[in-house]
Amino acid sequence: MRVLEVRDYQDMSSIASKIIIEKVQSKPDSKLGLATGGTPIGLYQELIRDYRKNGTSYERVCTYNLDEYVGIDPEDPNSYRYFMEKNLFAHINVPESQVHIPDGTVEDLEAECKRYDDELNRREGVDIQILGIGSNGHIGFNEPGTSFSSHTHIVKLAETTRKANARFFERLEDVPTQAITMGIASILKAKQILLLASGIKKAEVMRRLLTSDEVDEQLPASALKKHQNVTIIADEEALSLAK
Ligand code: PGA
Repeated sequence: MRVLEVRDYQDMSSIASKIIIEKVQSKPDSKLGLATGGTPIGLYQELIRDYRKNGTSYERVCTYNLDEYVGIDPEDPNSYRYFMEKNLFAHINVPESQVHIPDGTVEDLEAECKRYDDELNRREGVDIQILGIGSNGHIGFNEPGTSFSSHTHIVKLAETTRKANARFFERLEDVPTQAITMGIASILKAKQILLLASGIKKAEVMRRLLTSDEVDEQLPASALKKHQNVTIIADEEALSLAK
C-alpha cells in the first residue's frame, strides 16, 4: 500500500479527483467504484467542478456503489441512491442506465445480492474503487469479522456504525439495522483502490492499519494489504498516530 500524506480534507479531495479525472480522460468507458459518507463529498465536488470547467465526459462511464441501506426507499434523502444523485450524478453527464447501486427495498434481498454480484462479475473489475474507512476499520459496510472471501451480502450494521451515521438521520432509531454491501472479495477485484481518510476520528484506525503487518478479518481494511495497487490518501490528522 502506498501512503500519500496530504495536508487536509481539501488536498485529499483534490488529489483523489485528479486521479479519477485522468483515468476518465484516458479511458472514457472507465468503471468507477464509488462510496458514500462524509469522506468522498469533497472529491465529488471536485469532479463536478472539473466537469463544468473542462467538460470531462462521463457519458460512457459506468459506476458501481459499494452499499445501500436495507428498507430505505431510493427516493428517501437517507438512501445512498439519493446521496449519490445529490452529491454527484445530478451534476455530471453519467447516464442513469450506467449507474449501479444495490436496491435495499426489494423483497428478496438474497436475489438482489446475487444480481449485483452478477453485474459486477460481468466486468473484469472496476478500474478505480474509492473507499472511505470506518473508525472500526470497515470498508463498505463490511464490519469487523466479515470474511475476506465475501461477495455482495446482507449485513447487520455494527452499533458503532449506526451511531456514526446517526448524524444524517433525525434519531438513532431511524438508522437502519441492515444494509447490502459489496464484500471484501468483490472490492479486491478492483484494478486500483484509493482509500481516503481525513480527520482525527480516523487516526486510531489508521494507526492500526499502518503500524503493523496484521491482516485480520477483525480489521476489514487490512485485506487491502493483499492487493497490488492500493493508494491511501490521508491527511495529517488521520495519520497523526501512525508515525
Ligand atoms: P465517513 O464514513 O466517510 O462518513 O467518515 C466512512 C465509512 O464509514 O466508511
